[in-house]
Amino acid sequence: MTETRLCRFEELKDPDSRGFEVELDGVTESILVVRRGGAVYGYVNRCPHAGSPLDWMPDQFLSLDQRHIQCATHAALFSIEAGECVAGPCVGDRLTPVSLGVVDGWVCLVGNTGTR
Ligand code: FES
Repeated sequence: MTETRLCRFEELKDPDSRGFEVELDGVTESILVVRRGGAVYGYVNRCPHAGSPLDWMPDQFLSLDQRHIQCATHAALFSIEAGECVAGPCVGDRLTPVSLGVVDGWVCLVGNTGTR
């Protein structure tokens, strides 16, 4: 199994979000990482509604109250833990999850991947 380091876990506030460009199965993708408490969650940076990137500024993926991931285009709200849309034009749809882990204090992409 391949592990690709993205950032130090301690660099992320609680909560916090950050974007990365990575290679997933040989394809370059933009992904987002969200820290909440002791856990990290990762998704492809593409809204299931219209396919837009989710961030409104670099590394800004969370709603103002920081309780959800928010799409910048039409303001859909997604649960941080499951990536499910809970409000907005695509309720019930889900973000595409990315497999992450924390290894030796590093947030890592796990699987057949690489960073760019
Ligand atoms: S593109 Fe995300 S809510 Fe429309």
